Amino acid sequence: MTTTTSAATLRPAWSRDEGAARVRALFATAFTDEPDGVWSAPGRVNLIGEHTDYNGGLCLPIALPHRTFVALRARDDETIRLVSAQEASSVVAVSLSSVAPGALSGWAAYVAGVAWALRQAGFVVRGFDATVDSCVPYGAGLSSSAALESAFAVALDEVFGLGLASDDAGRARLAAACVRAENEIAGAPTGGLDQASSLRCHAGQALLLDCLDGSVEQVPFDLSAAGLALLVVDTKAEHSHATGGYGARRATCEEAATLLGVPLLRSVADEPDGGATALARLDDGTPEGSVRVRRVRHVLSEIGRVREFVGLLRSGAVDEVGPAMDASHASLRDDYEVSCVELDLVVTAARAAGALGARMTGGGFGGSAIALVRAGTESAVAAAVAAAFAESGLGAPEFLLALPSDPAA
Ligand code: GLA
Repeated sequence: MTTTTSAATLRPAWSRDEGAARVRALFATAFTDEPDGVWSAPGRVNLIGEHTDYNGGLCLPIALPHRTFVALRARDDETIRLVSAQEASSVVAVSLSSVAPGALSGWAAYVAGVAWALRQAGFVVRGFDATVDSCVPYGAGLSSSAALESAFAVALDEVFGLGLASDDAGRARLAAACVRAENEIAGAPTGGLDQASSLRCHAGQALLLDCLDGSVEQVPFDLSAAGLALLVVDTKAEHSHATGGYGARRATCEEAATLLGVPLLRSVADEPDGGATALARLDDGTPEGSVRVRRVRHVLSEIGRVREFVGLLRSGAVDEVGPAMDASHASLRDDYEVSCVELDLVVTAARAAGALGARMTGGGFGGSAIALVRAGTESAVAAAVAAAFAESGLGAPEFLLALPSDPAA
């Protein structure tokens, strides 16, 4: 049996200077010229409120200190040329006029999709040359794709003078363009959580996002004042939301809403009985009906847990949110069925090592989990999780610390 408590290293976030130097150097090599500027956008972790966004529900993300950097120079024509340090540094060229649903694949779809969506919204956007580098772990459920979209959104906003990034209302419009890029051009049927997080979160705050109308409230989230830290564990179990279970979960929720005669499940959550009558109506005795009941029960209970979590933050009881995190994980595992062996193991091992609460974060089927721990115990909890993975014959997970950080700029 492995009982190692040895070094579980934390993945560092690059400073703004380091990220900027990387993409500038790549730009000089790829395009033998100077960019107009450098922009960056963060990944996110959602504290609670999972699979609620596309149901018009509530979410509570924070922006990570880990960011995706973009050096960009505007062009006068329709050409987009892209180079990513994560993609073998070869140039990808796309004509902006050829961007359409189904026309592109790969990472360029997310970037060209943002330019396309801004044009669809009536803004004048032309081509550009750009280089990308990132310390947001890729495919880890920490919104590397939203960080990419959002970094380009603020870059295009500035170089083409759109004037949207200067206030929250404009940022909501940029986020909407990023969502269209992801849904319509990249083909991933995700909700708006990730893009709102990257563009609308503030340092030191959690973002209470109401997906019914897109409104937000900043909720102070001062981990260090509470003597706490938020450990993120990337299980390295790969997930993709462009295929498979994510779309199926969303479709089931939409079907249930149609059966209940409401536009979104949020309407049911807001009923005086918290949706109990609606749940009973969905239970038609068939196996499909029972799946629907469980999926909807997760959405309704999760919206309630966001309210509970926010209430605790507002009353200064940050160290009391653990049970809500644990209950969220159980609901995602048992009712929504989007957890996996690796995520469940993080949660169990972290709690056994003293975490106040732990849960998967993001869409699930792999990706990352978060654990709220006492400051000073981060390494011990990480080591315990790493040891549990080793004992189960799983590959080594990666760790990073989440501190509520700045939005795209
Ligand atoms: C992914 C999606 C989001 C959201 C979460 C689950 O991160 O991109 O829109 O649905 O899953 O909360």
